[in-house]
Amino acid sequence: MVNNPTTKQARRLRALIAGTGSCVPDKILTNEDFTKIVETSDEWITTRTGIKTRHIAGDGETTATLSAEAARRALKQAGMAPEELELIIVGTVTPEMVFPSTACFVQDMIGACNAWAFDLSAACSGFVYGLSIAQQFLSSGRYRTALVIGAETLSRITNYKDRGSCILFGDGAGAAVLKASDSGSMGVMYSTSFSDGSRWEALKCQAYGSRNPVGVPLENPDLVYMDINGREVYQTAVRRIVELAKECLEKCDLQVEDIAMFIPHQMNARIIESVGKRLNFTDDRIFINIDKYGNTSAASIPIALDECLRSGKLKSGDIVLLIAFGGGLTWGANVIQL
Ligand SMILES: CC(C)(COP(=O)(O)OP(=O)(O)OC[C@H]1O[C@@H](n2cnc3c(N)ncnc32)[C@H](O)[C@@H]1OP(=O)(O)O)[C@@H](O)C(=O)NCCC(=O)NCCS
Repeated sequence: MVNNPTTKQARRLRALIAGTGSCVPDKILTNEDFTKIVETSDEWITTRTGIKTRHIAGDGETTATLSAEAARRALKQAGMAPEELELIIVGTVTPEMVFPSTACFVQDMIGACNAWAFDLSAACSGFVYGLSIAQQFLSSGRYRTALVIGAETLSRITNYKDRGSCILFGDGAGAAVLKASDSGSMGVMYSTSFSDGSRWEALKCQAYGSRNPVGVPLENPDLVYMDINGREVYQTAVRRIVELAKECLEKCDLQVEDIAMFIPHQMNARIIESVGKRLNFTDDRIFINIDKYGNTSAASIPIALDECLRSGKLKSGDIVLLIAFGGGLTWGANVIQL
């Protein structure tokens, strides 16, 4: 019955969040630390971005090790064994290596021997894209369980000579274990995803791929680093996030007051505040933790979701709105009843 997506029962299935987990490295870089690396100040960084500290991977810490620890914590909260997982998706732009995928490393590290696993490259939208894909597999009845992870070690592709970008980014991983459920309205209610490849130059890391292969000298050695057009991204992000929120509310027949917590991608506190004002979200219903972690790309939303749940800010039955925007360009959202 469960494997037949054409049955009435299968059509009612929802992807329920059964557990969340997150993991960040112990090492911290403060704004004060950056004043010794580039010409900047705590005051500039705080007022322009809202960031105070970010966590940075140390020796032996990689995208896969952070992911695996976040996954173990999510499985523990879900009360599930790794062998029960059927699907693992890791959203990342800082994979363990070119191949195999980070997801395959995670599968091995946590012992999820019955899952199939793959990576998803959608920059900061990696986790919301991943939830959207997992939702399709679970609501169709094809699979009953999934693990979606957003994880990055952005410090490994950050140009610490570029003060316009290096102060923004941090490392970490967040995970959600999903279970197919046929009990009422709980679970992922709606997902929506977009891309605009014509704007790829706004956010990029150009080496080493097919266009700039290993072994061929780069025309500019800085191409190995992440490069952003901050001002362009800022303006587009505000517009797209507002559009996504309106679409989600309309499609789910919800009002702003029905959303217990809006969890946007943590890219800049000013962007989040501006979006919140335009949508009339009160401050207590917009989650911001960029002050502690900086922008962790695909990891930012699942880390925030996990913090919200573990700190008791959310309870069963609450509706959350997740919205991401990032390189590609990519943007997307999920509406979830917990
Ligand atoms: C990056 C970002 C914080 C820059 O803020 P901003 O207000 O747009 O600042 P600007 O880039 O216009 O720079 C303003 C001035 O500050 C300077 N500046 C840049 N970084 C600085 C730093 N770390 N410390 C001090 N001054 C800095 C610039 O050189 C510029 O000086 P100038 O006016 O003399 O040329 C902001 O645009 C942003 O958050 N953008 C989106 C971030 C992003 O793309 N994230 C990744 C995708 S999710």
